[in-house]
Amino acid sequence: MELKAYAKINLYLDVTAKRQDGYHDLVTVMQSVSLADTLTFSRTAGEGIVLHTDGALPTDDSNLICRAANAYFARTGKPFGISVDLEKRIPMQAGLGGGSADAAATLKALNQMDGNRFSVQELCEIGAAVGADVPFCIVGGTQLCRGIGEVMESVPNRLTGTLVIAIGREGVSTPVAFKELDRKYDDFKHGGRKACPSALLKAMQTGDITAATPQFMNLFEEVVCVMRPFVGEIRNLMLKNGAVAAMMSGSGPSVWGLFENEQQAEAAQQELQAIGARVFVCHFI
Ligand code: C5P
Repeated sequence: MELKAYAKINLYLDVTAKRQDGYHDLVTVMQSVSLADTLTFSRTAGEGIVLHTDGALPTDDSNLICRAANAYFARTGKPFGISVDLEKRIPMQAGLGGGSADAAATLKALNQMDGNRFSVQELCEIGAAVGADVPFCIVGGTQLCRGIGEVMESVPNRLTGTLVIAIGREGVSTPVAFKELDRKYDDFKHGGRKACPSALLKAMQTGDITAATPQFMNLFEEVVCVMRPFVGEIRNLMLKNGAVAAMMSGSGPSVWGLFENEQQAEAAQQELQAIGARVFVCHFI
């Protein structure tokens, strides 16, 4: 069984409060994009999971694919043997949800091999314990997410265009990015911040890019731009080349740019590659 694990970008990401358990409440609009890893699953005679990959990443139990499989088998109490081949294309520590996408694909594959034992909702519950973005990656598309990302509402997105996603060499650790926000926003502890994604949601529903452009936001962008100055450079280069909007995704440091004109997207791709960025041209799915 072969499954694509799609990356995500955040079109809106506000962090509203710090919770007792150390996690943060978010209000975020997540969007699946066509940049994807490919996972091929086969049944084996043994018990548990064996992972092979062409990427430079651990294949032991620290990998989110193995953690997802272990969480699945812990829930059913009936482990079977699977081998997984992972073709890694989504950059890691990039804010693109690559690890969560792989975990989500693993849960979906195991559930199918197991006669669809669990509903999508139940699968999301298992996924939430593996990583905050896993439930979104199970459902995909365009979702308004709250809580730590697990409370989802499907929303329409009629915006169109070519997406360019670019990333500099050095990744960002999600917990470190959250700590930087804690330092900057003292009001997390005092009742929290208010998020207002409604103007963006309306513009997305009608496909009005002019109305959407000033509404895209990511609270992480300012703090991560200080840690990784190439984030600002990439964003400015995209805007200079005609992007209608450009914004960091998740806790960074990848940046997405939306282009109405394909030639401009290609010109941006070349300029970004010339400054050493890894670049992917893709689209919303
Ligand atoms: O769930 P995930 O493994 O993606 O989260 C990594 C870390 O990021 C968490 O341990 C936590 O420190 C931080 N985090 C958070 N609030 C969220 C998601 C992640 O504080 N909503």
